[in-house]
Amino acid sequence: MNTEYYKIKGEHYHDTEIIDRAAQIIQNGGLVAIPTETVYGLAGSALIPSSAEKIYSAKGRPADNPLIVHIAKPEEAEHLAYTNETYYRLAERFMPGPLTIILPKRGIIPDEVTAGLDSVAIRCPSNEIAHKLIEVSGHPIAAPSANRSGIPSPTKAEHVLTDMDGRIDMIIDGGECDIGLESTVVKITDDGCIILRPGAVTEEMLAEVCDNVTVARAVIEPAVAAEEKVESPGMKYKHYSPKAEVILVDAAGEEFVEYVNAISDSSCGVFTSAEERHCYKTATTLITGEHINARDESKSLFRLLRKADEMGLSKVYIKLPEAKGEYLALYNRLIRASGGKIVKP
Ligand code: TXA
Ligand code: MG
Repeated sequence: MNTEYYKIKGEHYHDTEIIDRAAQIIQNGGLVAIPTETVYGLAGSALIPSSAEKIYSAKGRPADNPLIVHIAKPEEAEHLAYTNETYYRLAERFMPGPLTIILPKRGIIPDEVTAGLDSVAIRCPSNEIAHKLIEVSGHPIAAPSANRSGIPSPTKAEHVLTDMDGRIDMIIDGGECDIGLESTVVKITDDGCIILRPGAVTEEMLAEVCDNVTVARAVIEPAVAAEEKVESPGMKYKHYSPKAEVILVDAAGEEFVEYVNAISDSSCGVFTSAEERHCYKTATTLITGEHINARDESKSLFRLLRKADEMGLSKVYIKLPEAKGEYLALYNRLIRASGGKIVKP
């Protein structure tokens, strides 16, 4: 298959020719990779069963891991799912944006999209290109992250090209994703909500509009045994793993630097801010941003894991963040990328 590639720059998200072409592909049951504010998504119609099948096959994704359905406005969930008051309270505050809400599904959503579950994940992306494509196609859009299953999610169109060239109909390049980690996934419970996957909408932010916000146990556990029943099927798979071995180091400041300097050579990478790169004697530095902060570290994680492989590094050392607040999402992706291996010097 020949994959068409188009670039939409800056304010030109209303580039109607490209969006019209992409909408036509979606309506005809094809696949288009699109930027969102979190990561690139592999988009197909959520109303056409064969589109979902194509998504699973292009990604090499296990068929029991359901897809997120993307809509342009929160009310559009109405004919796809059974909404409730908590949904609208969360939607009013966080949509459009990086929040996905699990609701009981209606019959219009094919079983292929939800992997046979009786619930559906609903998200309303804020990225203008994604938003426009949903509007113009007139279809709700099923979109997992646009990576081959198991490896880091794509945050740039080049990553999608590496993974999907020849496997899908079209890629829209809208630049680097703002957030860099996938959306927060929550399930509404009788008295509040439970976080199944942490993201940029944090537990604390959810608690401002929702009582009884809890975090699923699997979020901070390295690996869930394949046979164990989990709330969100995606949590049981090995995820985000580059070829390089990811080593999480539970040490602060100086102690981390000394540990890395003592055991590394240039075939090893270390994640650092630009201002601290001079601390590392021999390891290859991978720069997360100018200073240490959750935003830059989150945004750069998947890009740098991919870069480590491009550079042929054998190992990468990353400081273990706290499992809370705006660092919880990063912690969750890191323990999965490392297969749960944490060293304490
Ligand atoms: O930011 C994002 O959410 C990106 C962009 C493209 O929107 N999408 C994304 O999709 O990360 P994906 O397929 O890589 O991850 C979807 C997650 C999986 O962990 C899946 O198990 C969970 O959402 N999920 C989907 N439907 C579900 C459902 N009905 N019940 C529980 N978990 C569900
Ligand atoms: Mg994914």
